[in-house]
Amino acid sequence: MEVIISPSILSADFAHLEEDIRKAEKGKPDYFHLDIMDGHFVPNISYGPMIAETMKRITDKPLDAHLMITNPDEYIPKFIDAGVELIYPQIEAPYDVYRTVQLITDLGARAGITLNPGTPVDQVIPLLDLIDAVLIMSVCPGFGGQQFIESSIPRINRLREILDDEKPEVQIAVDGGVDMSNIGPLHGAGAEFFIAGSSIFKAKDIGQAVKDLRNAAKSWAGK
Ligand code: DX5
Ligand code: ZN
Repeated sequence: MEVIISPSILSADFAHLEEDIRKAEKGKPDYFHLDIMDGHFVPNISYGPMIAETMKRITDKPLDAHLMITNPDEYIPKFIDAGVELIYPQIEAPYDVYRTVQLITDLGARAGITLNPGTPVDQVIPLLDLIDAVLIMSVCPGFGGQQFIESSIPRINRLREILDDEKPEVQIAVDGGVDMSNIGPLHGAGAEFFIAGSSIFKAKDIGQAVKDLRNAAKSWAGK
């Protein structure tokens, strides 16, 4: 299994965004993660397609966008135009999820789907023909810096079993409170795409934090 690290820029210092991205790049991350929040689906507002355009001017790394918004169909074309490679809408939002995921793939981007901590993992089955990844939220979405929910690990185990039966190439991503204490067990349970905000951007050495997370996941897989 691969280890993919995507630092979430929600925890970056926006007064020095480019500087923080350069520091993270020293640790050779695979992606950068954009948290898009609308103040309806989650009780917080973040940023929109303009941040994707800005990130594309700062870095060559691919971008994944996590859409915590109630009307993703309106914004998906804008994020894809801005150059976002992988888009994760939420499965719980009040829209036709299949149509939304289809829109992403029709426009040439890769699609994933996000599940909140209270959503049964077998809900992804009808979407599997269209998606490359399932994002398991290990906190309730809306804010960085929250405490990791331990029951995410057995959820990932269960989801990995379902995917192995149905479509083994689908990757499991995990987002929320990912740090050095849990990335190993998460990888052991079957996650390979790790999104981390505060454990990277609040670290003393941002680049080293990316490297340390990757090493911790890889060395766990060896055990
Ligand atoms: C929370 C976001 C996360 C957040 C992660 O709604 O989806 O991507 O930035 O931040 P940490 O790693 O600090 O929990
Ligand atoms: Zn996120």
